[in-house]
Amino acid sequence: MSILASFLLFLHMIGLAGILAGVLMQLMTDNTKSVKVLLHSALLQLVSGILLVGVYEMADLADVNHMKIGIKLVIALAIVVVGFVNKRNPATKLAAAAGVLGVLNIGLAVFW
Ligand code: HEM
Repeated sequence: MSILASFLLFLHMIGLAGILAGVLMQLMTDNTKSVKVLLHSALLQLVSGILLVGVYEMADLADVNHMKIGIKLVIALAIVVVGFVNKRNPATKLAAAAGVLGVLNIGLAVFW
């Protein structure tokens, strides 16, 4: 079970990198794939996070801080929504918003 948790955390870190990569791609280049990178990474982050909580709770691997996870979940959902809107109508403001929310979630994950 702990190898599964490690694998999910690995995917969680890839998702994090993907969100920031998508944001920077969109802000710094005209690459049309940036919106997909951002949205798919946000979805990966959401799914890997939810599965991580499930595995941690099932295997009693660590105490999950439910308040922290709840707030991270809301922020991650907001990034997914922004990602969907940004895919339909790409806008630098939306990419920047996703970036700020992503960095906020990193801060919550690390400092709380
Ligand atoms: C943009 C969204 C997110 C970002 C940037 C993010 C970032 C991170 C980071 C950097 C860590 C590693 C923390 C450490 O090991 O010290 C982490 C761990 C974790 N994340 Fe996320 N996360 C996001 C969304 C979510 C969501 C939606 C959930 C669950 C609903 C979640 C659940 C977890 C869990 C269970 C861990 C491991 C235990 C812990 O450190 O609390 N994350 N996340």
